[in-house]
Amino acid sequence: MNEILKTIKSRRSVRAYTEQQISQEDLSTILEAATYAPSGMGLQTWHFTAIQNGAVLEELNEKIKGAFAKSDEPRLQERGHSQTYCCYYHAPTLVIVSNEPTQWWASMDCACAMQNIFLAAKSLGIGSCWINQLGQTCDDPDVRAFLTKLGIPENHRVYGCAALGYAAAAPVKEKKLAEGTVTIIK
Ligand SMILES: Cc1cc2nc3c(=O)[nH]c(=O)nc-3n(C[C@H](O)[C@H](O)[C@H](O)COP(=O)(O)O)c2cc1C
Repeated sequence: MNEILKTIKSRRSVRAYTEQQISQEDLSTILEAATYAPSGMGLQTWHFTAIQNGAVLEELNEKIKGAFAKSDEPRLQERGHSQTYCCYYHAPTLVIVSNEPTQWWASMDCACAMQNIFLAAKSLGIGSCWINQLGQTCDDPDVRAFLTKLGIPENHRVYGCAALGYAAAAPVKEKKLAEGTVTIIK
């Protein structure tokens, strides 16, 4: 099996991280891989914001919790009021992937870039996980104000975030593939 297929098949979502930060070189490599993703009409209207400051990440988590606390959904409310809830699993790096919602392919372009991030990270021995909670809450006024402070373009929404860091433990559950998801017509 070639290296790319090995990387694709061995990547798993990591939800517990050590405190060790990833190097600047590895971060740059991962972000560069993101920018090589395909995009509708090659427009590349996305933006990648990498946060490696623990205090900033904690503040972002608090803003997300604040938005959840305002929700009508009991499950989100519970997260909003939890002392321990951390949507990014205390990963040392979080990459926010944003794009212009007026651009028809925005979400698809971001998903392609996210997968490049995950695979590039895996190829470097770095764990990763898609973090969805900022995408759910980025229209909340307090969250949006914080995103603006971080330099995320005013005309962008968040489509996903990638937690990055070194896995604290090997994934316990074996990956189970759903059956009947492929059809080949000849
Ligand atoms: C669009 C999308 C959103 C996701 N959101 C989250 C999330 O917010 N938190 C999380 O822990 N995992 C999230 N995941 C990861 C999935 O739960 C994970 O990919 C799935 O369970 C399969 O496991 P694997 O990545 O180890 O193969 C998300 C994945 C995708 C594609």
